[in-house]
Amino acid sequence: MRKPIMAGNWKMNKTRDEALQFIYAVNEAIPSIEQVETVVFAPAIILRDLVKRQGDNLRIGAQTCHYLENGAFTGEISPVMIKAVGASYCLVGHSERREYYNETDKDVALKVAALINNGITPILCIGETLEARETGKTEEVLRNQLHIDLENVSIADLEEVVIAYEPIWAIGTGKTASPEIAEETCKFIREYIAQSYNKKVADGIRILYGGSVKPSNVNNFIKEPDIDGCLVGGASLDPASFIELCNACK
Ligand code: PGA
Repeated sequence: MRKPIMAGNWKMNKTRDEALQFIYAVNEAIPSIEQVETVVFAPAIILRDLVKRQGDNLRIGAQTCHYLENGAFTGEISPVMIKAVGASYCLVGHSERREYYNETDKDVALKVAALINNGITPILCIGETLEARETGKTEEVLRNQLHIDLENVSIADLEEVVIAYEPIWAIGTGKTASPEIAEETCKFIREYIAQSYNKKVADGIRILYGGSVKPSNVNNFIKEPDIDGCLVGGASLDPASFIELCNACK
């Protein structure tokens, strides 16, 4: 049995006060962590404030990190720092990081390994462009991403990784993948893990769908056998909407 995850990716949204209001609104209203792992990925500058006020059922994550522990990298934060403030998850390889900050699969691979070494759960984001989808290259793109992004992860550590399948054409566009496409692609990812590692790891690893998920469509995704939850951007910003999304995962 894989425990479902509902992950909210706030991106560059919410001031500290807005974020605290959100936390107070959702803390008591979300499902028990025994049933659903609920995580909010917040701007780094407020991680500590949120960790201090997170309820028993909520976890806090960072949106990106550097792969080194420290050094002359102006503006960056390290896995050690994320751990020190008490956040327990980190997104890696989000398509916006890949597109706007030139994050390569090699960088992603180093970050995944650094997070695992620090006991932080990486949510590894992968996904194809519209062009790749339309020219039948989706599987090739995902295979290449998984091959490099996971190259520094041992079989034992792979159990700590969560994969988020986010077709780039569905992020922030209001246009979701159909549940059939989402399921077929998440199933492909699971089969890739089974072939490259083993079936036991593939059966245990959580795979999320992301891309324009909202309360009105979340059930279409989480009912699918290979989709273990969702990574949600826009619809995770409003507490009522986020609570609905979390409850749908029960
Ligand atoms: P969206 O974003 O839900 O706003 O499409 C998803 C994501 O970027 O993780």
